[in-house]
Amino acid sequence: MSKKPIIVFEGIEGSGKSLHLSLVANYLKQKKIKFIKIREPGGSLNSEKIRKLILNNKSNFNEITDLLLFLASRSENINLIKKNYNKKIILIDRFTDSTIAYQHYGMGVNLNLINLLNNYLINDIKINFTFLNTVNNKNLFLRLKKRKSLNRYDKFNSAFYNKVQKGFIKLANSKKKSYMIVDSNLEIEKNKKLILNKIKKII
Ligand code: TYD
Repeated sequence: MSKKPIIVFEGIEGSGKSLHLSLVANYLKQKKIKFIKIREPGGSLNSEKIRKLILNNKSNFNEITDLLLFLASRSENINLIKKNYNKKIILIDRFTDSTIAYQHYGMGVNLNLINLLNNYLINDIKINFTFLNTVNNKNLFLRLKKRKSLNRYDKFNSAFYNKVQKGFIKLANSKKKSYMIVDSNLEIEKNKKLILNKIKKII
């Protein structure tokens, strides 16, 4: 595997993906290994502008507009990714699978359209490994409750999040070798060990 892989953290709200990404980032910092981290939507300056627009509670775009905005945000990140591709490890908090899981499995947008646009954008960029973080309904809503403020995508019902998570799991099961499913209902320390052991093998 590439020594400067692209590693993506996916999962629904409250699944611990951002926490797990920061564990990995801290480990790399400690080891003085160069990396960049990006979040989607967001990441680069222009993408962050689009993020605000999508997630604002006052926005009420339809699902196709949302899809195009998530992809617009991604499009603005591609240069940043290309600039660092094969030079530094790239950690990404949500990427192409989020679009498939939320916009297709959650909202029913046509999968071919999403794949076409995603593939056009990422072109020859290869995601080397994905940590899919999963959470049960109880912890999902407990964790959402603890947030200081909720954005437009933090307010769906359990049926929606269940559809999205099932979609993510389907994707992970279709490409088992490059995925690891992390059960975020377990203790943090346990998962930290699992994730860092995997990271040591990947980098
Ligand atoms: P974010 O704050 O990154 O997630 P979290 O609440 O887990 O920290 O919120 C981004 C939201 O955008 C999240 O609900 C997932 C959604 N999203 C999509 O629907 N499609 C996409 O392509 C991406 C990147 C995100």
